[in-house]
Amino acid sequence: MKTIHIFFWFFIHQQCFLIGLLVDSSHLSSASESPPVTVTAGNRAVLPCSWKSVLAEATPSVCHVQWAKRADTVFERRGEVRWEADGFEDRVEVPWEELGSGNCSLIISDVQIGDAGRYESFVVVDGTRSQRRRVFIRSVKLFVFDHKSHESRRPGEDLVLQLHTSHSYRVVFQARNSSEWSDVWMRDNKNTQHLWKHPLLNQLTIKNVKGSAEGTYKVLDEQGRAVSTVQLSVEENSTDRRIQQMIRSVPTGDAARSSYSLVLLPAVLVSVYQMFPLL
Ligand SMILES: *[C@@H]1O[C@H](CO)[C@@H](O)[C@H](O)[C@H]1NC(C)=O
Ligand SMILES: *[C@@H]1O[C@H](CO)[C@@H](O)[C@H](O)[C@H]1NC(C)=O
Ligand SMILES: *[C@@H]1O[C@H](CO)[C@@H](O)[C@H](O)[C@H]1NC(C)=O
Repeated sequence: MKTIHIFFWFFIHQQCFLIGLLVDSSHLSSASESPPVTVTAGNRAVLPCSWKSVLAEATPSVCHVQWAKRADTVFERRGEVRWEADGFEDRVEVPWEELGSGNCSLIISDVQIGDAGRYESFVVVDGTRSQRRRVFIRSVKLFVFDHKSHESRRPGEDLVLQLHTSHSYRVVFQARNSSEWSDVWMRDNKNTQHLWKHPLLNQLTIKNVKGSAEGTYKVLDEQGRAVSTVQLSVEENSTDRRIQQMIRSVPTGDAARSSYSLVLLPAVLVSVYQMFPLL
């Protein structure tokens, strides 16, 4: 295992050394903006980056990549040594075996709403006179969407709310005809008779829902941003009610309207026909 590791390390150094790093600014014009990346909160995003396309001449260096969001560095890797910014702990990575082969794509796991924005990748060049230069590679915009859904339950059933990410902090509720929001759950709350947080999954079960549970549930992150919005309706007997609605809607519905137009059609044809002899 250790030898394989060393071999890889050597291989990567060789790659960086041979292919090398130096700016060719004429390459930095059109292709520097990647198409945007879109992801829903809690999922994984890969921001593309390839340093071989940008760097031309050979200059000795180790593989050193840097990702920044606006002016702030988010992630940096110099060979085996890596650094990640606060708020991105354990969520960002450029695998070093990928980096050696020219792939500096950033993996962001468990994407947060606040991760949205423009990211820029750079390769840091350790120049011949040991002066460091940052070479811009690519810019890519990340869009993060929240989750939205409608749920329907009968009284006595359970509602499983997906929290989507381990950073979800709070669930608030607004009853159907109310303008007030109230707390349903907060992280580190103990389980109760009515609320059960799955010990491993990002899931909250609201047990035994009643009519008063009807309304809007919002899952919020630590900054109070909505990760998910769930509209719940609680119906006494939904199949019963749906069948009744169907029966009631037939006479005034589409079926009735189309038979009406079938009756009208011959009359229209007749009047059109009657107009032609005049021409
Ligand atoms: C580059 O790396 C990313 C993340 O490690 C991976 O998803 C992607 O497939 C790689 N691209 C290529 C062309 O190998
Ligand atoms: C909510 O308001 C609507 C009209 O705005 C009313 O028809 C309905 O009965 C109300 N529901 C509850 C649970 O109060
Ligand atoms: C709902 O309606 C169906 C059909 O009328 C009936 O068989 C069922 O028992 C009802 N369920 C409840 C919970 O009332």
